[in-house]
Amino acid sequence: VSSPVLWYATRATGLVAMLLLTATILLGIFTTARFHRPNWPRFAQQSLHRNVSLLTLAFVTVHVLTSVLDTYVHIGWSAIFVPFASHYRPFWVGLGSIALDLFLAVLISSVVRHWISARIWRGLHWLAYASWPVAIAHGIGTGTDAWRSWSTSLTLACVLAVIVSLVWRVSRPLTTVTAGGPSRIDR
Ligand code: HEM
Repeated sequence: VSSPVLWYATRATGLVAMLLLTATILLGIFTTARFHRPNWPRFAQQSLHRNVSLLTLAFVTVHVLTSVLDTYVHIGWSAIFVPFASHYRPFWVGLGSIALDLFLAVLISSVVRHWISARIWRGLHWLAYASWPVAIAHGIGTGTDAWRSWSTSLTLACVLAVIVSLVWRVSRPLTTVTAGGPSRIDR
């Protein structure tokens, strides 16, 4: 099938997925760094973080399905998970596959969290920090809209938001997430 509708859907869902992935990272940073208000308890933050990550997965799923189903360019089913297997722009689409693989590792490790050690879970969860910049590079490298001013502004806003939150996060006392929620590590 080759249809402009599929192509528009790929572009739109790609951008929304980037915004949602950024929101997921920000919520993760705030939850771990114990940023909470009396009227916004931590369990609400954690469940928002989880739900936004699932919404991200939903948009990424539509994004990859529409991009592969649109036969105007040949991407191929394997390229969804196998980096650089796409016939179309193998490098830039390959970055998308890597971002998706890393994101899935984070999600799956959270699903099986109670069966793996906290150390392994945390190590895998940190892959989120790798997934996000790779997804941003993928969007900039292959997006039709990437160099339009509104799209560049959105990407820049995402990058700035994550950098500022990370700086804020590392300037606070170190915390770690355990099954019962974040707990402090003494330096
Ligand atoms: C976490 C995973 C991913 C995220 C967050 C993401 C996000 C994005 C973004 C933001 C764009 C730019 C949209 C635009 O400006 O037009 C884009 C484009 C694109 N993505 Fe992804 N992507 C991901 C994974 C993938 C995967 C695995 C594939 C391949 C199977 C893929 C295929 C494409 C294609 C073909 C385009 C170019 C669409 C166009 O022609 O404009 N993406 N993606």
